Formats: sequence, structure tokens, C-alpha cells
Amino acid sequence: MDKYAKLKRLHEKQHTKCSCGLKTIAIQPVFGNGNPEAKVVFIGEAPGKKEDETGVPFMGAAGKFLEEMLETIGMKREQIYITNIVKYRPPNNRDPEPNEKDACREWLRKELSFIKPKLIVFLGRHSMNDFFPDLKISNAHGKLIIKKFAHIPTTHFLPLYHPAAALYNGKMRKILMEDFKKIPK
Ligand code: URA
Repeated sequence: MDKYAKLKRLHEKQHTKCSCGLKTIAIQPVFGNGNPEAKVVFIGEAPGKKEDETGVPFMGAAGKFLEEMLETIGMKREQIYITNIVKYRPPNNRDPEPNEKDACREWLRKELSFIKPKLIVFLGRHSMNDFFPDLKISNAHGKLIIKKFAHIPTTHFLPLYHPAAALYNGKMRKILMEDFKKIPK
């Protein structure tokens, strides 16, 4: 079985096991997507409408913007892996609740242990605070954090503003694009 098939099996197993309350409301789970050999994993918050409909993360406007930014650093979506802390769409795109994050946590840990990326990029405060609860995104964005966690193989983390937040905010957009350039380094 190749790595893609193994990863798909991991997602199917976690979906079956997952006790997240959003599972019964969402159209479908949104599995992490991309290259299972990726050196960089991006972690967003939770699926939105487009993602719920397609079953693929970052398919809407924020995803398009993310792809544009990847291009500016010479990377393609096929090289990276993108996932969310919560795998089911919260109703009306509300913020995921702590119990929903908790219910999806084992799933995220399993996929990170499988991929073993060199760098984890947090897209927005939700994913950053899931690992670093005390940090503020306004201060932490663009600054590399090195830390060893017991349950995941990655030690390097880069928090960024969420592309959806920066999309229509010129100042934040500029900062995000600058922060993005730190990824290859
Ligand atoms: N925003 C997220 O955080 N994740 C997605 O998959 C889409 C939008």
C-alpha cells in the first residue's frame, strides 16, 4: 500500500472513531489533503461551506489566496499538506468550540505523526492556540517557534494570520505576505 492509500485509511479510521458533535450536522468530513511526504504542513481552523460541499480543505476564497501566496515562494499546493484542527464544518461558520477541538485532536496528532513535517504553519489563532494557548497571533505571527511536544514529531512552528482574515484587510494582507516568505528558510 502506498503512502496516499495509508493516509486515506488513517482518515477513514479516524472519521469512524471521531466523537465530534459536528459530524452529524456536516455534509461530510474534510480530510487533510496534499502530499503525504510534505515537509510543510499548514493547519487551518475548520471547514467552511465550500469545503463541506467538496470534502477538501481550503477550496474557497481563502484557499485561492493561499495558493497565490505559495506561488510567490515558488511552492505548489501539491508539495504541501493542508488540514484543519476540526474536520467538520461548524454551522454558519461559527468558531469551533473547545469540545469539538478536543474530539478532533487525536485525528490531527495521528496525521502529523504520519507525515512528520519539518515545519508546521498555523493559519490563524485557532490552530496556533491549540498548540500554544498563551500566545497572541498579533504578536506571534511570523516568528518561528522551536518546541518539542511529546506526541508529535515536528519541532518547528510558524504562526501566520489566517488568509480569510487577511483577504480583505490590506494591512494584514501585506504582513501575511511578508511572513509567508519566511517559510522556505
Ligand atoms: N478556513 C479554514 O480554516 N479551513 C478551511 O478548510 C477553509 C477555510
